[in-house]
Amino acid sequence: MNYQNVLGKVDTNIYEGKSNMTTTVISTYDKRLGKVYNELWNRYHKIYGHREDASQQFQNLLNMMKQKDAERKDALKKIDAEREENQGWFLSQNQVGYMLYIDLFAENLTGLKQKIKYLHELGVTYIHLMPFLKMPDEHNDGGYAVSSYTEIHKPFGTMKQFESVVDLCRELGMSVCSDFVINHTSKEHEWAQKARQGMEEYQDMYFMFDTYDIPAQYDKTVPEVFPKVSPGNFTYYEDMNKHVFTSFYEFQWDLNYQNPRVFNEIANCMMELANKGVEIFRLDAIPFMWKEIGTTCRNLDEIHDLIEMYRYVMKVVCPGVIFKGEAIVQPQEILSYFGGMEGKECHTMYNASFMVLLWNSIATKETAVMTEALCRYPQLPEKATWINYVRCHDDIGWGFDNDVLGQQGINWVEHTKYILKFFKGDFHTTFSKGEYYEFDEWKFDGRTSGTLASLCGLEWALESRDAYQQELAEKRIKLLHSIILSFSGIPVIYSGDELAQLNDWNYLTVENKAHDSRWLHRPSFDWEKAKKRHDVSTVEGRIFTDIKNRIETRKAYDIFRSDVPTYTIRTGADQVFTYFKKDEHETFVGLANFSEYPVYVPTHVLHQRGIWGNMQDLIQGKYVDVAKETILVGPYETLWLYQ
Ligand code: GLC
Repeated sequence: MNYQNVLGKVDTNIYEGKSNMTTTVISTYDKRLGKVYNELWNRYHKIYGHREDASQQFQNLLNMMKQKDAERKDALKKIDAEREENQGWFLSQNQVGYMLYIDLFAENLTGLKQKIKYLHELGVTYIHLMPFLKMPDEHNDGGYAVSSYTEIHKPFGTMKQFESVVDLCRELGMSVCSDFVINHTSKEHEWAQKARQGMEEYQDMYFMFDTYDIPAQYDKTVPEVFPKVSPGNFTYYEDMNKHVFTSFYEFQWDLNYQNPRVFNEIANCMMELANKGVEIFRLDAIPFMWKEIGTTCRNLDEIHDLIEMYRYVMKVVCPGVIFKGEAIVQPQEILSYFGGMEGKECHTMYNASFMVLLWNSIATKETAVMTEALCRYPQLPEKATWINYVRCHDDIGWGFDNDVLGQQGINWVEHTKYILKFFKGDFHTTFSKGEYYEFDEWKFDGRTSGTLASLCGLEWALESRDAYQQELAEKRIKLLHSIILSFSGIPVIYSGDELAQLNDWNYLTVENKAHDSRWLHRPSFDWEKAKKRHDVSTVEGRIFTDIKNRIETRKAYDIFRSDVPTYTIRTGADQVFTYFKKDEHETFVGLANFSEYPVYVPTHVLHQRGIWGNMQDLIQGKYVDVAKETILVGPYETLWLYQ
């Protein structure tokens, strides 16, 4: 390509990172751009080269980047410089995440600022703020319908207040992660409104069609995301006589990334937020970002070009920023969102399969399926890791690896039916209390909603005043957290789970929420419960203290770093999930009994891996001799053995 066309009169050698000029001082910005320039352009050209405006749009992008670099605060540039030196900073065992809705947790940003110390006390170093940008007042899918990427949703406060929260977090050593809705905007976004008024240049930013002919072709192969709560992939608007691509809800219009302007504008918004101090972007629903007729419009190759390009943009303007991607697909497919073994795309990805496997083990009280599935996990790039979580704001979709189920002699269809009923509470042996989500009664297929504590049996135990069941429920809650807090990857706690908050059945009485059972597990944060967190005679106190202790312990030992891999093994006692981490100096063995019976775990498989001798449990303090033939693990007990 002819750089002169794009860059005008500049020394293009700089951009290729090989300038010999001795008299000119090359700025940090130019050096960074020089390092990625060719790759960035090549990708851009690959995607947009067939368009006449490709070079102009590329130039626009470079201008935006230069501008945002000029606006970036010194405090943030300092972090950029440190992280360029230490690119694996997020792999430290100190990273512990917490996700929250600003309004549910603290009403607004002023409230959040006052409550940050609570999170600091728990040991959180990374706060994931659920969508907080301007959104429609009523129908907004919990904020996943963004009406402006540069304004805060009014009831939450102002951009100034947001910055002040972010600054405080930074002072306390906490990184702020912002949800970034990249696939669609709300239909109230300025671009959508201008499109609706008939302005063609804005209509090109979305997928809009005069007749149903083209949508009909898409509909042949594109599955629906919300077949029950919001059926269809397109919405017809009579006022403009157009069919609009709306993968999610009607009020969420899919952006058209085949238009380079969309890529640029979104890059600009992302840089703008990064300049407010956001250090982690949660890239929402990325598998949907590219659409082609004749495909499922999921996970298409071009998405990887787009994410790689966004990463280059960040590398130049705000290299301290990392991406967390949301793609709820099998782990082998997720590897592509890390950008393969070179790690060119997301730094972290949700470990949705692990989350599903943990719940599966809660229901089945055995761990063979989980262990076998985890053994098949791909190796990750050197500077990348998983986000491990047990619950989040979304439902649990039962995406099992069918091969693994088959290998264990389990019929997928029957098994999913069982799991669904189990967590709904429709089963005589269940302890769980949840809801179906997107449930298809004909196929008996669907997903599950509910808070961690209610799914673990606490709600039912409290209602039936069953002290024994309550004890088991508490143990399950601790056990699930214990696993994510000791595994390789960044553990992220879902707000309220550290206090064992129960389901919020009130959602059924709220008109625009009742149809979406995900609101069951989005209760307002209960500050009355939080007051009890230091009192271990209460459920809240016991759960909070256990999680806090484990966070402190995790931080104290290097073995918990995310770049020390975790291996899972089958010992012959499938009720007990067994995993270990090992490096030159330290060995860690985790054991978690998913059943209410004591189990003797054979140790020979550990011996085969060179794990012997006396080990100390880091939480309880007791010593366990691994040289013996078996280790006794009590009902729902977890051991963190260390040597
Ligand atoms: C993601 C979010 C989910 C939202 C959807 C549409 O999957 O996690 O809550 O409904 O994207 O933005």
